[in-house]
Amino acid sequence: MIRLENVNKTYHTMGGQVHALKDASLSVEAGDNVVIIGKSGSGKSTLLNIITGIDRAESGQVIVNGSVLTQLNESELAIWRGKSIGIVFQFYQLLPTLSAADNILFAMELVGSIPTGERRARAENLLNQVGLADKRKKYPNELSGGEKQRVAIARALANDPPILVADEPTGNLDSKTSDQIHQLFLDLNTAGKTIIKVTHENIEHLRYNRVFSITDGRIKDNLAHPA
Ligand SMILES: Nc1ncnc2c1ncn2[C@@H]1O[C@H](COP(=O)(O)OP(=O)(O)OP(=O)(O)O)[C@@H](O)[C@H]1O
Ligand SMILES: [Mg+2]
Repeated sequence: MIRLENVNKTYHTMGGQVHALKDASLSVEAGDNVVIIGKSGSGKSTLLNIITGIDRAESGQVIVNGSVLTQLNESELAIWRGKSIGIVFQFYQLLPTLSAADNILFAMELVGSIPTGERRARAENLLNQVGLADKRKKYPNELSGGEKQRVAIARALANDPPILVADEPTGNLDSKTSDQIHQLFLDLNTAGKTIIKVTHENIEHLRYNRVFSITDGRIKDNLAHPA
């Protein structure tokens, strides 16, 4: 489902060069529930940005959901991303002027793969699935952090991608709410989605079947764990 081979990424800044990923390789199978851990600045977000095609590797091979990302131009990448990956961020990134349902509808409009006549019902079903059936008309500023993140997860599912990527999705939530969001990801994994989650948290209480750790841009471990 996801394969990185010897990926390198360097940021060129005024202050010099930052070698953020060093010969990073990993492989994730369809249906995996992956956790990525590492200290601040270790390269976790950089890795996710390469997997989602938000940023490009300077060398190495990146194959995700059947496409070689290095061979796609920007518009091909946008189409590929729309059908392949749903992305969840730490700070939700909901559009503040749209209701919960409209945030999800907007994601469908951008990609255009869900037939127009099915979109509204699909948005409502997704809100149902994340436990927010009664909040579809609420605007982001009327929702709690956990509710906002549920809307963001529903939005990530808008176009039914096989892969969900989340960068510290519970980094801004209290532990009880955080547990609920992790449970939601677990349910989605059970339903067949491949999940890749970056976390700062102690992972003792999380359930996953793969864990990668990054240190200074190097993917160090690749331990198999029972889910
Ligand atoms: N756009 C950028 N321009 C320059 N340097 C960057 C950029 N993005 C990240 N970096 C640097 O690359 C390295 C890896 O950053 P990255 O954001 O991937 O780390 P991270 O593991 O996600 O950290 P955090 O846990 O704090 O989110 C860091 O040294 C960071 O300062
Ligand atoms: Mg980060």
